[in-house]
Amino acid sequence: MTGVRANRSDLPWLVLAVVLFGAIDLAVHGAGPPTTGWAGPRAGLLLQLSVDVSLLLLARHPVPVASWALTVAALTLGSAELAPGLLTPVDPATHAVLPHATPAIVVNLVRLTDRRRAFALIGAFAVLGAKPWDPSWESTPLGVVNTVLPALAALYLRARRELVDSLRERAERAERERLLLAERAAAQERRRLAEEMHDVVTHRLTLMVLHAGALGVGSSDPAARAAAEDIRVEGVGALAELRDLLGVLRGADGPPVGGPARPTGTERPPAPDPRRLVAEARAVGESVSCQVDGDPDRIDPTVLRTAYRVVQESLTNARKHAPGAEVAVTVSYRPDGVDVRVANGAPDRPPDRALAGSGSGTGLLGLAQRVELSGGALRAGPEPGGGYLVGATLPAHVPTRGDAG
Ligand SMILES: Nc1ncnc2c1ncn2[C@@H]1O[C@H](COP(=O)(O)OP(=O)(O)OP(=O)(O)O)[C@@H](O)[C@H]1O
Ligand SMILES: [Mg+2]
Repeated sequence: MTGVRANRSDLPWLVLAVVLFGAIDLAVHGAGPPTTGWAGPRAGLLLQLSVDVSLLLLARHPVPVASWALTVAALTLGSAELAPGLLTPVDPATHAVLPHATPAIVVNLVRLTDRRRAFALIGAFAVLGAKPWDPSWESTPLGVVNTVLPALAALYLRARRELVDSLRERAERAERERLLLAERAAAQERRRLAEEMHDVVTHRLTLMVLHAGALGVGSSDPAARAAAEDIRVEGVGALAELRDLLGVLRGADGPPVGGPARPTGTERPPAPDPRRLVAEARAVGESVSCQVDGDPDRIDPTVLRTAYRVVQESLTNARKHAPGAEVAVTVSYRPDGVDVRVANGAPDRPPDRALAGSGSGTGLLGLAQRVELSGGALRAGPEPGGGYLVGATLPAHVPTRGDAG
C-alpha cells in the first residue's frame, strides 16, 4: 500500500531537521577525537553532514535518501571494523554507526513509500545499527531504538490518519445519500400531487366547460349565450394552464408515478360512489348507462378509490374525445377484487378541438401506474366501430411487500 504524497508543507520541517542533525553531528565531532586516516580529520563528519543535507530531498525521494544513509552507515561500520581512524576515530566516543538523522528517515519511509520497501530498508538500518553478530549494551539497544520505535510511531499515525479519512468519507457519502433520498421523496410527493390534481380538478373543469357549452346552446338570450361562451373559453384556458402546471409538478424527466402509501392516521375519506360520477355526466346531457353490482364493503378503500378514478378519467375522456357517444359503465365488486369497464361507442360529432387538446395526454398512463401500484391491470384502447374501452381489474387488497415472498 502506498503512503501519502509529499507536500509543500514538508519543506520547513526538513530544513529544521537539516539544521538540527547538522548541529548534533558538529557537536559530537567537536567532543570526540578527529579521524587520523588518509582522508583527513573530518572525513567521518563530512559523510554525516552529507546525510543531513540529503534530508532536503527526503519528502520527494525517500528511498534514495535512505539508501545513501545506509551506505554511510555501512562505510562507518566497515571503517570501525577494518580501518579504524579512516572514517571513525581510533578511539571513538560512541560505537553507534547509524547516522543521527536515521529516525527522521525511518518515519518518512513509513509515511511515503509502500510497506514492503519501507520495511526492507528499516530492517537493514536495524541490522546495521544493532549489530546482532556482535551485540553490546552500547550499540544494540541504540540501533533498535533508532529504527523500530520511530517505525512503530509512524505506523500508528498512518493507521490513525487512514481511519479518520475513511470516517470522513463515510460521513460525506451518508450526507449525499440523505440529500438524494430527500430529493426523491419530494419528487414523488410532487407527482402524487399532480395525479390528484389531474384526477380531481380536470374532471371538475371539463364538467364546467360542458355545462357552460350546454347553457350557451340552450339559451335564447344573446347576453347569456355570450357569458356562457366566456365561461367555456375561460374553462378551456384553465385546463391548458393546468396541463402546464402538471408538467412542472411531474418534472420534465419522468412520467407520473404513484406516491408512497400514506402514513396511518392521514387516510383520505372513503372513496365516493362511481354512481355519483354517472349522475354528474347525465346532468350535462351525456347518455351514460350504469351497472354496479356486488358488495364494496370487503374491498380496501385504496382499491375503491382507484376504481373510482378509473371511472372518473374514462368519463372525462369520453366527454372530451367522444362527444355524444353512448357510454356504458360497469363496476363489479367481487369478494376477491373489482372489475371496472367503461366503454363508449362512436362519437356523433367531432370533438371540440380546444377541449380535446387541453389535456397533457398522460391521464391514462398515470391511471395505469396507479392501478399497477394497487396490484391490478388496466387496458385501454379503441374498439372496432369507432368506440373506446377502458377496463381495469383490481385485487380486493393492495399487495404489500410481504405478499411477494
Ligand atoms: N373515450 C375515448 N374516445 C376516444 N379517444 C380516447 C378516449 N379516451 C382516450 N382517448 C385517446 O387516448 C388519448 C390518451 O388519453 P389520456 O386520458 O391519457 O390523455 P388526455 O385525455 O388527452 O389528457 P389528460 O387525461 O392528461 O387530461 C387521448 O388523447 C385520446 O386520443
Ligand atoms: Mg384524459
